[in-house]
Amino acid sequence: MSDKTENAPYHVAIIMDGNGRWAKQRGLPRVAGHRAGTDNLRRVLESCGELGIKMLTIYAFSTENWRRPEEEVKGLMGIFEDVIDRELPEFHEKGVRLRHIGRLDGLKPVFADKVRKAIELTKNNDKLILNIAFNYGGRAEIVEAVKTLIAKGVKADDITEEMISAHLYTADVPDPDLIIRTSGEMRVSNFLIWQGAYSEYYLAPVYWPDFDKEQMRLALEEYAKRHRRFGGL
Ligand code: FPP
Repeated sequence: MSDKTENAPYHVAIIMDGNGRWAKQRGLPRVAGHRAGTDNLRRVLESCGELGIKMLTIYAFSTENWRRPEEEVKGLMGIFEDVIDRELPEFHEKGVRLRHIGRLDGLKPVFADKVRKAIELTKNNDKLILNIAFNYGGRAEIVEAVKTLIAKGVKADDITEEMISAHLYTADVPDPDLIIRTSGEMRVSNFLIWQGAYSEYYLAPVYWPDFDKEQMRLALEEYAKRHRRFGGL
């Protein structure tokens, strides 16, 4: 029997929330929660193909996450670098195309370079497109787009929605069909605030490390029942 649900969304975006609370519940340091979250990301990536998802965008690190204690930021950066170092060949082999949304400047140059190389290496893969929102903030993204338009000399009256969309980090990425947030929190947290204007939202009642294939299936089932109207009737 196929695992694919009917009307599978093409593009699913996820706010992977709850790693810290998952760890706290177990008396573990927060970084252990992020490691468990990383293990879970591997499982979720595996399930995308089986569930018919072609594009996944994950919120890995926001522009606001720099405010976390230095030790946690260091731990997270260590995990991200480790994943690129150790797992890139496997991602590539499995046909995953990696993309980055956010700002690469402001990151450690060695790390930013690894990200650029990973994007270049995987650019022709098409089994699954994985957009990693890293050092990403939705408001900053819109401000940057507007600044670019002004710098190009576009007149205020000539600015259109399409122009702004075309100057976001996601310029050639279709808007997400479904945005999932784990851990039950009901916030957008500056994630894809332009692109998500007509996305369906789904709140999963589990922490990210526990968001398994069954949870994903429930999210897709709920999505399949929704009637998307994009403001019409
Ligand atoms: C939220 O948990 C998660 C993050 C800050 C993102 C980090 C995500 C991972 C490490 C998953 C793997 C991703 C990659 C790209 C390898 P939280 O700390 O906000 O949880 P809390 O709200 O319970 O404190």
